[in-house]
Amino acid sequence: MKDNIEIENSLNYWNNLYEPIKRDEIIMDDWLEKFDDIIDKTSSPIIDLGCGKGNNALYLIQKNRKVISCDQSINAINNIKNNLPEIYQALCFNMLEGLPFDDNYSDIIIADLCLHYFRNDDTFKIINEIKRILKPNGHLLIRVNSINDINFGAGKGEEIEHHLWRTDDGRLKRFFDEKDIKLFFNNFEIAYMQEKSLDRFFNIEKKIYEIHLLNTR
Ligand SMILES: C[S@@+](CC[C@H](N)C(=O)[O-])C[C@H]1O[C@@H](n2cnc3c(N)ncnc32)[C@H](O)[C@@H]1O
Repeated sequence: MKDNIEIENSLNYWNNLYEPIKRDEIIMDDWLEKFDDIIDKTSSPIIDLGCGKGNNALYLIQKNRKVISCDQSINAINNIKNNLPEIYQALCFNMLEGLPFDDNYSDIIIADLCLHYFRNDDTFKIINEIKRILKPNGHLLIRVNSINDINFGAGKGEEIEHHLWRTDDGRLKRFFDEKDIKLFFNNFEIAYMQEKSLDRFFNIEKKIYEIHLLNTR
């Protein structure tokens, strides 16, 4: 029952946050640039999970890639449809209910700051779903909260599972260290993992891990 409340709180939180925006208000950063050699080679649609305002989609569209933007928030998906008419598909679904794609569907899946909201068992389920729809030798490019992300809640509130906290507004937020990343993504090969600082969030330092995972196992 508690699970349902947290899921509803998350959906409400994100839907309320995504007011209509214009294309020139989408803020991009350059994190995907280092994967350009992979991105430029792919012919299959790139799946962008938890796409939010479409920062990754805009970057990929500018490189003439086919992009499938996905989010639980209908407001986020409507923004994508309105702002990015070049989008290949924009799909609204909750990752907790599975990923609506065939096995081995894509060469590249992006999950940018969207895999750190779930309990252990749900996190494993979503990662297994990602593995199912990723082609063998495909690439999973992700960013997740770091355990050092103290400006955005690491270590604050009630820790309900190891490194998973309940926020004041009743949502879940996980903060990863390298051991957690190796545990959750044990079915993947870690090609690259780096802790980084972002400042696109109101100029307050946000600590994240940037990770390139290979579907080789
Ligand atoms: C921090 S935002 C990241 C947005 C974008 N990827 C970025 O980096 O700017 C997290 C996104 O994940 C989405 N999200 C969270 N839980 C989800 C779920 N269970 N299913 C689908 N999307 C979810 C939210 O709606 C939100 O758009």
